[in-house]
Amino acid sequence: MMFQRLVECGDELKLCLENIAGRGEVIEVKDILARFSTDVISSCAFGIECNCLKNENAEFRQWGRKIFQPSIGQIIIGILSNTAPVVLDKLKLSTLDSDVSKYFRKMVQETVEYREMNNVKRNDFMQLLIQLKQKGSLDSEQGAEDRSDEEFSGTGETADGLSMNSLAAQAFVFFFAGFETSSTTMTFCLYELSVNPDIQERLRTEINTVLEKHDGKLSYEAVQEMSYLDKVVSETLRKYPPLSSLMRQCSKPYKIPETDIVLDKGTRVVIPVIGLHLDPKFYPEPDRFDPERFSEEEKQKRHHYVYLPFGEGPRICIGMRFGLMQTKVGLVSLLSKYQFSVSKKTPVPLMFDAKSFILAPAGGMWLQIENRRMK
Ligand code: HEM
Repeated sequence: MMFQRLVECGDELKLCLENIAGRGEVIEVKDILARFSTDVISSCAFGIECNCLKNENAEFRQWGRKIFQPSIGQIIIGILSNTAPVVLDKLKLSTLDSDVSKYFRKMVQETVEYREMNNVKRNDFMQLLIQLKQKGSLDSEQGAEDRSDEEFSGTGETADGLSMNSLAAQAFVFFFAGFETSSTTMTFCLYELSVNPDIQERLRTEINTVLEKHDGKLSYEAVQEMSYLDKVVSETLRKYPPLSSLMRQCSKPYKIPETDIVLDKGTRVVIPVIGLHLDPKFYPEPDRFDPERFSEEEKQKRHHYVYLPFGEGPRICIGMRFGLMQTKVGLVSLLSKYQFSVSKKTPVPLMFDAKSFILAPAGGMWLQIENRRMK
């Protein structure tokens, strides 16, 4: 439903780099890619064209930066929320900066009111939320009317519909969880493709072949056909999982197999995703970027849970398909037109930013961009 919006943002991304690539400049790609994914998510989740690619100081981008560049106070609160949430409750502290939450609540409220008053309908996530607010279920949802009020107690919702507060919270979570994770994935992917030009060339050949087959048009089906692209993105998420650990709480006592350790009910557990992804037991020569680790044959050889970039179980990332799709559309848009390489400014070897909540390169990601050379 939202695919066309992704393609339009991808075209905008291409356009915004045209002159820079013509001059073969070295650029910081992380910020540009964050502006791309902010445009995508604001358009698909909020129905707002925020034009962050055209205007790097657009309001939406500034709030996005604020979320991911927390103050020291916010970092301490963040640590407390994972280690001692009771303290936060006692002190009535919120993990979210109140200016940020006020801005999003106001924006969502204004958007909903505008759409309801003017009867505006769009193919986006906000439309689905508005439907939930008005009717309590989506048109395609079976049996949703049967839900009782009790199910919603404490959630701010009623069986009759989603409250404005819940609606704003849902839209905000999409924004928060959706843009930095995807742009970080694209950033690390372009880095690896610059360090491994042969892989970049093989990927570009696949992209061009599939696009030609689809009359030069980037469609949902065309992206699905790009199997090497899928392997490259999977390998990027292995080496650089944007969320490098997962949090869980034991719902019942659990004995760790082959040890004497028993985790009591209620114990909070950190699952070291990046530790598993870089363990030579599961991925020989883990520092080597090798998309073939994700061939069907290689995947069968590993335990399913040693690859967790989107988490697992009932709380697995709800935006997984959307995140992968926007990452792939961004990469296809760029690689079909431009080529990337390392420059003196490129951080090799790569260092991570120790203060960042989401895995990020320290000092940004500087790459040289040029127009694609025709073969
Ligand atoms: C490459 C991109 C992305 C990555 C690597 C990623 C990764 C993750 C991870 C690791 C989790 C935690 C899962 C767990 O605890 O088992 C998560 C949760 C979540 N993600 Fe994503 N994500 C991405 C894109 C997105 C997008 C685009 C959206 C929304 C449009 C999104 C929305 C969410 C939400 C709402 C949750 C919480 C789900 C829940 O707790 O039930 N994510 N994501």
